[in-house]
Amino acid sequence: MANPKSDKTILRALAGEAQQVPPIWMMRQAGRYLPEYKATRAEAGDFLSLCYNPDLATEVTLQPIRRFGFDAAILFADILLVPQALGADLWFVTGEGPRLSTITGEAEFAQLRGVEDIHETLSPIYQTVRNLASALPKETTLIGFAGAPWTVATYMIAGKGTPDQGPAHELKGTHPAVFDALIERLTKATIEYLSAQIDAGAEVVKLFDSWAGSLKGPDFDRYALEPTRQIIAALKARHPGTPIIAFPRQAGDKYIGFHKASGADCVAVDDSVSAEWVAEHVQPDGCVQGNLASSHMVTGGDALVRETRRIVEALRGGPHIFNLGHGITPDADPANVQLMIDTVRSA
Ligand code: CP3
Repeated sequence: MANPKSDKTILRALAGEAQQVPPIWMMRQAGRYLPEYKATRAEAGDFLSLCYNPDLATEVTLQPIRRFGFDAAILFADILLVPQALGADLWFVTGEGPRLSTITGEAEFAQLRGVEDIHETLSPIYQTVRNLASALPKETTLIGFAGAPWTVATYMIAGKGTPDQGPAHELKGTHPAVFDALIERLTKATIEYLSAQIDAGAEVVKLFDSWAGSLKGPDFDRYALEPTRQIIAALKARHPGTPIIAFPRQAGDKYIGFHKASGADCVAVDDSVSAEWVAEHVQPDGCVQGNLASSHMVTGGDALVRETRRIVEALRGGPHIFNLGHGITPDADPANVQLMIDTVRSA
């Protein structure tokens, strides 16, 4: 739990406080829907160069704070930097997304570097965190992040994003020892990566398990919940005061009990569950974050205002951080972001 005496609204929500006006930030708040982001990315050359340039990564992290005054800034980086730090090849194809060298068996797994080697690649990211810790307005909370092991593994195994995570499910069945070893390597690397972000000044950390919903039944418990629980337990032992947000996207009824089972201070929910359902089944266990559909940032209008108010009202009885259900998309209109913020703050 966070320090309840903090005057930062996000830390108060994470400490369990219900607030009349929930704090607000937005997944992918630094991104291509902002002309100033596109300009800085062009200056950097490409996306990865931007991630590894502490001055420019600091600049794009601050852009949405200057424009909108969000209550939190999220470090600008990517979940796929950890595979790269472990020795995977990584590049981004414009208009298509990430590409990585694949892992199809023991031979490729054996090529990966050890956990102790990751800081060599990731040290510019820690510099960005240090920059932000001193550059942010005093009321703004700095959030660090990493991908959860299952989600990161799906990209490492397939070598790209996949609609159904088929290659990862297949490796889990055909090469269970390799698959388990990969999850374990990622779990340990994620602990060290997040711990270093906290040492550098991150006040909160978030674990993105974007593909958790494709794990069913015991697989969900073993590969989404259990690695998350281990990461949180290790971070809590080293940094007891740092709150942790878990995002097991599309977990459905597995959101129920996820705070207790994982040790997370906050569970972020996607927009496939209603805020009323979340208030009844998830929020009694602790802070929740979410969950406006990101399509409203494209379409705007009365529907945006109505949905935003509904979510604020449904979750007002307990600790809540307002956010989207997933990242904002490049075709979003910044004016709709402002309308969402004004609606939340006047609700
Ligand atoms: O939220 C933020 O503003 C912080 C930065 C951040 C990025 N990616 C920057 C980014 C965060 C937290 C992420 C997380 C991330 N990255 C996830 C988990 C969250 C989710 O969206 O489910 C995943 C799965 C990735 C992997 C990834 N990175 C993909 C699949 C893509 C391509 C899709 C796309 O939107 O282009 C990226 C690229 C990426 N990461 C961009 C940004 C701003 C766009 C790159 C560009 O500028 O062209």
